[in-house]
Formats: sequence, structure tokens, C-alpha cells
Amino acid sequence: MRAYHLEASRLDALRMVELPQPSPGAGEALIRLRAASLNYIDLAVATGAFPAPSLPLIPVTDGAGEVVETGPGVTGLSAGDRVIPHFLPDWLAGALPPVAGRRMRGITMPGSLADYAVVPAASLVPVPRHLSFTEAATLPIAATTAWRAVRTGAVRPGSTVLLLGTGGVSLFALQFAKASGARVIITSSSDAKLERAKALGADETINYKAVPDWDARVLELTGGAGVDLVVETGGEETFARSLNATAEEGTVFVVGFLSGADLKASLFPIIMKMLKVVGSNTGSVADLREAVRAIDAGQIRPVVDRVHEFEDAAGAYATLSRGGHFGKIAIALGNGG
Ligand SMILES: NC(=O)c1ccc[n+]([C@@H]2O[C@H](COP(=O)([O-])OP(=O)(O)OC[C@H]3O[C@@H](n4cnc5c(N)ncnc54)[C@H](OP(=O)(O)O)[C@@H]3O)[C@@H](O)[C@H]2O)c1
Repeated sequence: MRAYHLEASRLDALRMVELPQPSPGAGEALIRLRAASLNYIDLAVATGAFPAPSLPLIPVTDGAGEVVETGPGVTGLSAGDRVIPHFLPDWLAGALPPVAGRRMRGITMPGSLADYAVVPAASLVPVPRHLSFTEAATLPIAATTAWRAVRTGAVRPGSTVLLLGTGGVSLFALQFAKASGARVIITSSSDAKLERAKALGADETINYKAVPDWDARVLELTGGAGVDLVVETGGEETFARSLNATAEEGTVFVVGFLSGADLKASLFPIIMKMLKVVGSNTGSVADLREAVRAIDAGQIRPVVDRVHEFEDAAGAYATLSRGGHFGKIAIALGNGG
């Protein structure tokens, strides 16, 4: 089968290789991957910012495809089923398993940049009928995280939600928050992207380059109250402003570190407003399943900005590292439709 190996923790160490097709053991399924999609973590693995424990590695966390064959003891799956393998296949539901028993696709086990993969059968979630493989491949990390954010923030009609930037997590959170009846405020460095976010349902937009004190603008837009939920993807540069922009007893869902991970922020907004500051480590297979159910029920379509061919996987990484995308970046593995 065709695959990529990341041979060292460098972006130029991605090599196309020919490998034997793996076969499924007990409790496993062999899937033919049809599409993959990139997350920030893939870039971190490829550059060594989040090093993989052993190389070479078939990289990329997220993908989608169809079942080819199942191993002994697997029930409820048939050849041809369209499926999404979850990024954290050992976290089926409930509490996060201990780190030693928690594999990560594309980091501690083979990922999605290959024609075939063997995964635990219990980590597979059906692809909604209205989605292509390419769209489905964008769901494991970004949609699961956005789903947990809106659930953790108890988002409901009348809630106000703040999203930072127009990356994958923010746009799924926008779609889930709107489907839940919330009012959504979103920031971006680009007016053109803010227009696209409005077309997806955003109620209020702020250009964080033109309005550096965007937290004050959020307070203005909410009559001084602040928002019920911030999906904090920015990290170092945005965290303190996110605390300012949150309403009393509101939730700051801490997801990302796009501008760095070393914080300097006053504790007083957390203490005085009794904020809930909740960390995110993606979510379980059950969370992905719930996110997919919501996507199916709401006929939500993931926002795929660009699809690179398999032969141009390095180009997909380059697109992600340049920034400037709106939503997700995907890689086609043959028939991605
Ligand atoms: N902990 C978890 O569970 C978890 C899960 C998923 C992702 N993450 C992390 O969350 C972050 C976002 O992930 P993603 O997949 O959505 O990333 P992404 O798709 O690459 O999003 C990048 C976008 O974020 C915006 N951005 C960049 N710097 C910003 C800043 N200083 N302030 C505000 N917005 C900024 C930009 O939007 P504009 O171009 O519109 O300005 C940029 O296009 C990453 O750090 C990722 O590693 C964590």
C-alpha cells in the first residue's frame, strides 16, 4: 500500500513509501482510507514541537474511509461501511483513560496518511449519509472538541458564545452553537473571513487586528454582561482578554495555544466572576458519535477550505503552517467523494 513515513521530526522528512497492507487482529478492523485532514497537532508532530515517541511513523490523526475486513470478535460492522476512526481509540466513553493506556492515531500508532489502517473496531463511528469522505475526515479532533465545548458550556437558546479565529474548531463550534440557538460572536484577522463566518450564521464579528481590545467590544456587544462561553483557541495572547470577555459564572473552555502556551493573566476575573476554566483533551468516541449525530440531524456540512492530493501531502502541511485557511485542510486518498 502507499503510505507516508515521517522519518524525523522535520517537515522535510515526510517520505512516500510502499508498505505491506496490515491485517486486523481480534477486535480490530482494516479500513481503506479515502481522505485525511490536518490539525495543528499534526504540524506539531511533524516539526517536533510535540514529538512522536518513535519514528518512522505514518502521521496524521484524522481520516475517514470504509471497512474492508474485520478481525475475530467484531460484530456490527460489514465490508463497505463508511466509517470515521477516532483519534483517541482507547477512550470509548466516560473518564479519560490513563495516559499509558491511551493511544493516539498518527502519533503513537499509525495514522491516516496511508491507503489502509488497522484500528480498534470500537473506535469507528459511521459517516453521516450527507457527508463525503473528505468532509467526514475533518471530524475526529475538531468536531469532537467543538461539541464538548458547547456541551461543557451548557449552550442553549439565549446563550452567547465567543469564538476566536476561523480555524477548524471555531467553525464547528459556530455551527453547533447556532444549531443550539445561541448568539455567536466570532473574531478573525480577516474581514473577508468574517463575511464568510456571517454566511455560516455568526451574529457579530470583530476583526482582532483592527480592534486589538476585542474583549471590550465583546462586553459592548453583550450590554456589559460578557459571554456565557469562550472557546479559547488562542492561548498566550488571547487568554487574559477571554477572561475579561466572559460573563459571571461563565465558562472558558481552554482548547488551544495558537499564540503560545505560557500564560500571564490575572486570576481576579476568575475569582471575582467565579468563572469555570475547563481544559480540553479532544473527547471520547462517544463524544465523536454525539457530534456526528448532531451533524446528521442538523445536516451540518464541515467547512473544508482546501483539498490536497495524496502526492502533495507536504503541500497540505505547508498550507496549514502558512495560516490563512478558513476551516479545515484535507488530503484526498483516492475516491474522497
Ligand atoms: N485541546 C484540544 O482538545 C484541542 C483540540 C483541537 C485543537 N486544539 C488546538 O486548538 C487550536 C486551534 O485549533 P484549530 O484546529 O481550530 O486550528 P486552525 O484550524 O489551524 O486555526 C487557525 C486559526 O486560528 C486563528 N488564530 C491564530 N492565531 C490567533 C490569535 N492570536 N488570536 C485569535 N485567533 C487566532 C486564525 O484565524 P483567522 O485567520 O480568522 O484570524 C487561524 O486561521 C490549536 O492550538 C490546536 O492545537 C486543541
